[in-house]
Amino acid sequence: MERRYLLRTFGCQMNEHDSERIAGLLTADGYVPTEDAARADVIVFNTCAIRENADNRLYGNLGHLRPLKERNPNLRIVVAGCLAQKDGAGILERAPWVDVVVGTHALPELLALLRAAQTEGPQLDVHEYTEVFPSALPARREVAHHAWVSISVGCDNACTFCIVPLVRGPQRSRPMEDVLAEVRALAGQGVVEVTLLGQNVNTYGRDLTVPGSPRRPRFAELLRRVNEVEGLRRIRFTSPHPHDFTPDVIRAMAECEKVCEHIHFPLQSGSDRILRTMRRSYRRERYLAWLEEIRAAIPGIAITTDIIVGFPGETEEDFRETLEVVERARFDQAFMFQYSPRPGTRAATMPHQVPKEVVQDRFDRLVALQERISLEIMREHVGRTVEVLVEGTGRKGGTQGRTRTNKVVHLPGEIPPGTFVRARIVSAHPHHLVGEPVSAPTSAERSLAAVR
Ligand code: 5AD
Ligand code: SF4
Repeated sequence: MERRYLLRTFGCQMNEHDSERIAGLLTADGYVPTEDAARADVIVFNTCAIRENADNRLYGNLGHLRPLKERNPNLRIVVAGCLAQKDGAGILERAPWVDVVVGTHALPELLALLRAAQTEGPQLDVHEYTEVFPSALPARREVAHHAWVSISVGCDNACTFCIVPLVRGPQRSRPMEDVLAEVRALAGQGVVEVTLLGQNVNTYGRDLTVPGSPRRPRFAELLRRVNEVEGLRRIRFTSPHPHDFTPDVIRAMAECEKVCEHIHFPLQSGSDRILRTMRRSYRRERYLAWLEEIRAAIPGIAITTDIIVGFPGETEEDFRETLEVVERARFDQAFMFQYSPRPGTRAATMPHQVPKEVVQDRFDRLVALQERISLEIMREHVGRTVEVLVEGTGRKGGTQGRTRTNKVVHLPGEIPPGTFVRARIVSAHPHHLVGEPVSAPTSAERSLAAVR
């Protein structure tokens, strides 16, 4: 009898990639995926703790599963990810019908924990460090042409709003040869685009040594080496921390033809006072100067960002400074968040938490401003011809893909995922472009996409 698993993922790309590993482990053990909870033998929630509501959502979901578990005692329910790491035994207390709680460091133990749960009852493993770098685990990827490649896990910064250092621990980089071996293997399987992943990619290597040398590997060097991998056409990475964004990275980006013209550059706030209490070490003018340097070195580069509204102590004046920086920076897109206190972080206990209505009002104003800017930038694309890598079908049919600058493009008709298409942009919206193919994909490209 085939055993089935259902996997739900919340949160960031790091979690998406961990989910590929969870799927990889279960697949290696003979499981097949299902979308039907009633037919699943294992249900996994890979959770996120970065913003509010994650907790409520998880317990809501677990509540729904309770009757299912009562009907089918063989069902195994697993809670993985950052919330598992953070709440540990608390999850088994609140939802005793859960079988396995596995933290972010303990992922390699998943199968052993599932087996132990069979005979010994609920299992908990949220230990804080693992010798095995997680990417050594098998991964089951959702699409054939793109892959996430983890280059480091954890974060050495201490931004006062952020739960990540608490749940993912200090930064551990993956040896460069290991990363390269994975990228080469992926390219050999037909992957044309990789996204290098780390909480803070540009401090990559700070915790490593090069055998027989006093030097440490650097992110810029990694970019150059990945750029040499044959078969690969696009390289992305996420996210850099502005204060570690060194000129050698800008040079490598400018010189490596496969590295895409997009950078995600988290601002968080435009007020120096707030940046200080957030423990972000750059200041607004420095940040804006970096943008100029990056844009001068890489013409046409798209810049996206993260901004938090309503950090403790944020005044109307501080918020206006954020609006001003946003106006000057002209981000292609911004991910905007209402501050949410994460228990255990420094900011959670800071005085002057901003009332909810005030946060909402500022948030709405910021979104309106950014939408206007995004649309203006998108409109500049109308009439241009761009290279689109097809990702799949759009929500309303047709084809959806992305430009090198990470802009979503909708195209008519159905084109196989993994195909590169040259498209002329005919209209613009704040979050996507509409294009028409100017040349049909070459037959070689079509047949390549078809076998993937
Ligand atoms: N509240 C709101 N937003 C947060 N982020 C991280 N922690 C919080 C929090 N406590 C945002 C930051 C970060 C992004 C991934 O999530 O902007 O860059
Ligand atoms: Fe969190 Fe700051 Fe580390 Fe990003 S750099 S993961 S925001 S502590």
